Amino acid sequence: MTTTPKTKQTTHAGLQAWVDEVAELTQPRDIRWITGTPEEWTELTDQLVEAGTLVRLNEDKKPNSFWCASDPSDVARVEDRTFICSVEEKDAGPTNNWMAPDEMKAIMTDLYRGSMQGRTMYVIPFVMGHLDAKVPMFGVEITDSAYVAVSMLVMARCGEKVLRKIEDTNANFVPALHSVGAPLAEGQEDVKWPCSDTKYIVHFPEERTIWSYGSGYGGNALLGKKCYSLRIASAMAHDEGWLAEHMLILKLTSPEGKIHYVAAAFPSACGKTNLAMIDPTIPGWKAEMVGDDIAWMRFGEDGRLYAVNPEAGLFGVAPGTGESTNPNAMETIKRGNSVFTNVALTDDGDVWWEGMTDEKPAHLTSWLGEDWTPEGDKPAAHPNSRFCTPIAQCPIAAPEYDNPDGVPISAILFGGRRKTTIPLVYESRDWTHGTFVGATLSSETTAAATGAVGVVRRDPMAMLPFLGYNATDYFGHWLAIGKQADASKLPRIYGVNWFRRDEDGSFLWPGYGENSRVLKWIVDRLEGEADAVETPIGFVPAPGSFDIDGLDVTEEHLAKAGAVRPEEWADELPLIEEWFNKFGEDLPAELWAEFDGLKARINAA
Ligand code: GTP
Ligand code: MN
Ligand code: MN
Repeated sequence: MTTTPKTKQTTHAGLQAWVDEVAELTQPRDIRWITGTPEEWTELTDQLVEAGTLVRLNEDKKPNSFWCASDPSDVARVEDRTFICSVEEKDAGPTNNWMAPDEMKAIMTDLYRGSMQGRTMYVIPFVMGHLDAKVPMFGVEITDSAYVAVSMLVMARCGEKVLRKIEDTNANFVPALHSVGAPLAEGQEDVKWPCSDTKYIVHFPEERTIWSYGSGYGGNALLGKKCYSLRIASAMAHDEGWLAEHMLILKLTSPEGKIHYVAAAFPSACGKTNLAMIDPTIPGWKAEMVGDDIAWMRFGEDGRLYAVNPEAGLFGVAPGTGESTNPNAMETIKRGNSVFTNVALTDDGDVWWEGMTDEKPAHLTSWLGEDWTPEGDKPAAHPNSRFCTPIAQCPIAAPEYDNPDGVPISAILFGGRRKTTIPLVYESRDWTHGTFVGATLSSETTAAATGAVGVVRRDPMAMLPFLGYNATDYFGHWLAIGKQADASKLPRIYGVNWFRRDEDGSFLWPGYGENSRVLKWIVDRLEGEADAVETPIGFVPAPGSFDIDGLDVTEEHLAKAGAVRPEEWADELPLIEEWFNKFGEDLPAELWAEFDGLKARINAA
């Protein structure tokens, strides 16, 4: 029999009661409250090194940084194990898994019973967004994983200061419970990456509560990120009249010194982190990062939409990140203080992944812990391997990133991975049409979630895996947001596609830094300085309006990348109709009207 450890650590009665209740249920060996000091970081990382979970990297290459390999079965978000347990099934909508809250709680309470035995239970007070925000968005994560605690310290503002403010203002917080589901019996030796075959990532939107079990992977276990800042926050945003979106936030300064902030929603592993850290190829343009994954947008007093990045860290896809594609990310991680998960380890204690360098190292330890040489056929890094690193280290972090009021958004981009059909860039006619562009966004699936890769699926506003409520209510909410403001103050909405391919399978558009040309055209449109041509799907660059100076692309390829082909759209229409039919009459009539309009224009073209 173990006795439940008790710590009286907070004057916040509700928080203390919840911590006691969880400890009683999960039976940890001890309880540790995370304070956020550098000494604590050192102690926790030392302990993880000792346990074999982390490997300390070479101080000269990556100071204060660590390599970690997960269990091979625990490498990505598990969408089929993710649930929105609203009281009514219809409030979860047709795109989410649902179970009645009581039923789910019964199942998970059984799983949590004794699940932390032999482990330390960490209590992590955190705030998403700024501690000095008008309404600070508090959370407290309880976890039995030190890896999660360390990663949370990078990804969110955590610790003592946050706890004191929760207490001083007797604030509400989102309780976020996480267990890897691997209790240790007396004397049982631990594994490097404890997890369970049974996984549940569960949200109770009405109660603003998160329960996660069985996985240690970031998207499933760092509960401030997808679970709170997207799924729970989207439900809050719906009720309170704001937006919680899967979007990067980018600051652009033109050669004339004009500033525009742009937000962009692309599905997972489709280029947000890359665009957020873009190194523009066109002279005189400056880009700075405000956020790379999540944007919370609220109307300001001037009627414009202001975006805040709720996170403090980057949890970026490693493969494909290199000096030529994302030099700013490379510089960020060089500054250290990072955790790398499921990348490869070099013989001199550094990290490597596919796409980091043109030349492959002669020998590596792969993410599977195996000897790796370039002759082999397995990748050295898992395709969804990640770097976890502080935003403050990014050489192009915009100072506004730390502004609790956020930045006014001029344009919103929706994009995905499509080999065909979707042109490089097009402008929607108005907010309602832009909502249609977002609601019908599609992409080929990637390794960011378990399941088949390369299948086209609809991913509305890149939020399919992150919606905390019914998608039709979400579309209605987007339309309603558009009616809350003067049309001239709303961001203009664009569709983009960096991933269109030629017949031989090669990319038609060079992407990465060259995407600055697309951003320039968008800014020129906002400033009324670029012409556009109307097509059935929206406005595309008029000849001569798109800067191709010094661009190393044939005119033929450029034309193919930007083409709006009625025959391809004729094939797309039934797919959109099939998607909308999923919602039937619940889909806002305005979106059906947009569909009918598009169909008529395509058929006439
Ligand atoms: P999450 O963090 O999972 O939400 O994904 P993300 O949207 O931040 O994706 P990320 O920027 O990490 O991009 C992942 C993949 O897209 C990598 O394999 C990149 O190499 C590739 N990628 C990004 N930008 C471009 C581009 O402009 N062109 C091409 N062809 N590939 C790109
Ligand atoms: Mn993401
Ligand atoms: Mn990213």
